[in-house]
Amino acid sequence: MGNGKAAKLERSRGGELRASDAGKEVRLAGWVHRRRDFGALVFIDLRDRSGKVQVTFDPSAGAVEASAAGLRPETVIEVEGRVVLRSAENINPEMPTGEVEIAAHRVSVLAESDDLPLQPASSQEHAEENRLRWRFLDLRREAMQKAMRMRSEAVRRVREVLHGEGFWDIETPILTRSTPEGARDYLVPSRVHPGEFYALPQSPQLFKQLLMVAGVERYYQIARCFRDEDLRADRQPEFTQIDLEMSFVEPEDVQGVVEKVLKALAELAGWTVETPFPHLSWQEAMDRFGVDRPDLRYGLEIEDLGEVVVDSPFVVFRKAIEEGGVVRGFVVPGAAGFSRKRLDQLTERARELGAGGLIWFKNDAGRITGPAVKALGEDLSQSILEAMGCDSGELALLCASSIDVARRVLGTLRSELAAAEGLIPEGEHRFVWVTGFPLFEWDQESGRYYACHHPFTAPEPTDLDKLDGDPGAVRARAYDLVLDGVEIGGGSIRIHRPDVQRRVFAALGIDEQEAQARFGFLLEALRYGAPPHGGLALGLDRIVALLLGVESIRDVIAFPKTTSASCLLTDAPSGVDEKQLEDLGLKKR
Ligand code: AMO
Repeated sequence: MGNGKAAKLERSRGGELRASDAGKEVRLAGWVHRRRDFGALVFIDLRDRSGKVQVTFDPSAGAVEASAAGLRPETVIEVEGRVVLRSAENINPEMPTGEVEIAAHRVSVLAESDDLPLQPASSQEHAEENRLRWRFLDLRREAMQKAMRMRSEAVRRVREVLHGEGFWDIETPILTRSTPEGARDYLVPSRVHPGEFYALPQSPQLFKQLLMVAGVERYYQIARCFRDEDLRADRQPEFTQIDLEMSFVEPEDVQGVVEKVLKALAELAGWTVETPFPHLSWQEAMDRFGVDRPDLRYGLEIEDLGEVVVDSPFVVFRKAIEEGGVVRGFVVPGAAGFSRKRLDQLTERARELGAGGLIWFKNDAGRITGPAVKALGEDLSQSILEAMGCDSGELALLCASSIDVARRVLGTLRSELAAAEGLIPEGEHRFVWVTGFPLFEWDQESGRYYACHHPFTAPEPTDLDKLDGDPGAVRARAYDLVLDGVEIGGGSIRIHRPDVQRRVFAALGIDEQEAQARFGFLLEALRYGAPPHGGLALGLDRIVALLLGVESIRDVIAFPKTTSASCLLTDAPSGVDEKQLEDLGLKKR
């Protein structure tokens, strides 16, 4: 213990006090986290953003103790006192400050708190609706303080890495023209131009390309993006991208920079990651994992059984193959004991996802069972399981359908079963680049092609001649970054020649006139010396959520929206008064 008067600290952080601070006189401010009265003795856990420290008020403090006794949770107080060592039996190893406490000799109330609709100190799970309604209280909770701090730290790291790599941070407009990224736009009416609208950017895509034409060479921005789309746990109507673009680059150059950024971010969570990240072609990802964002932390890889079952007498298999479909499946370790009910549930799930059904086989110490064994015969059943590597104690699940349905069904079941069966190893994290996407995707319903990424993605030069005749076969110079089965980023080399851009627009059914009207400024810029360029955008919210191991990106956004896109705290969106509408030349229907 220090002896005598250490300098009195005007400001200190309670959560940072340690045994080495014993003897110091401190003045702390914060919130009453918890109060315990033991007759004459009152204890308060004082909380600020650095953590908590115990404050004791003993009877000898007289009036001080009396005022502490009435303090309600979340009252804001200022305390003066001396840091003292706790006696051995009172040390709390759970608390970083658990070896010390503050012997208070003065306390003053800076602000009172009403009865709390949400207790920040409570360890119980609060309903999310309540958390979003009382977000300022929810954000006081330790988990949320940790999330905000991690997010802030992540942004700082990103900036450090990118400045180190020669990137310039440039802001692009929020009130802009629509940039199609596949979602609906949020529109903002113009007062000065009645009947006209700005769109909030779905991403800074076109502006960053214009910045390359402008000779910036390396741009980045922590950019807010707005998309009016159906929301899920990993989608918000406004979210943040780490957006970057580079001139005179190949995909490896962009990927190299992005890997440096992610390595720095992974360190924040204490992960060690190897670079360069592995690559997987889109085709391989779809075939082996059924999705374009494969989770490589576990096996359960999908096998194609077309060759094994090609002469099968089983009508379900034969029909699928005759109709140009596939027979594929995967093996679930340790699942040969699944009950009939569980298997029925899996079949039901496969139906929900579009399959006619699901075929299963169990390998029970070499004895093969399953509803299709009779139709297939023992030998063929055996060959199927051998081809799949389905050993004793394992379950094989097969889907016979069109290739799209098989990918969707098996890809979804694969990830759902891995989670349900605890097959995802703790503490392991796997990055993978997915490359070689098709440039376009055919939409049956509207009978037209859509860009898989966006219409500014460059085609592979060797596929250029297919652009007009066979657009579905053109591959894109695009790359997505996937972490543990989550798409955390997407990017590409861009089109920098106006003639190629026109041909891509044409393949998308955008005629010359429409192209001029919507993207005239881009086509124009490409005529004046546009450097070859490419880039990528990372989803900051998703990355921070993964670093923290939380399920929803709402838990890493200070003021997120609900799945129905409202803010429960401010009650947005809201009606506006007639005068505002009139100024904007708008009328409610
Ligand atoms: P893309 O649309 O793939 O690419 O977006 C890049 C990354 O942003 C994240 N993301 C989202 N995060 C939260 N909520 C959403 N609604 C949401 N939508 C997307 C994802 C995604 O990988 N302009 C291109 C990038 C480029 O080509 O450079 C773009 O926006 O993690």
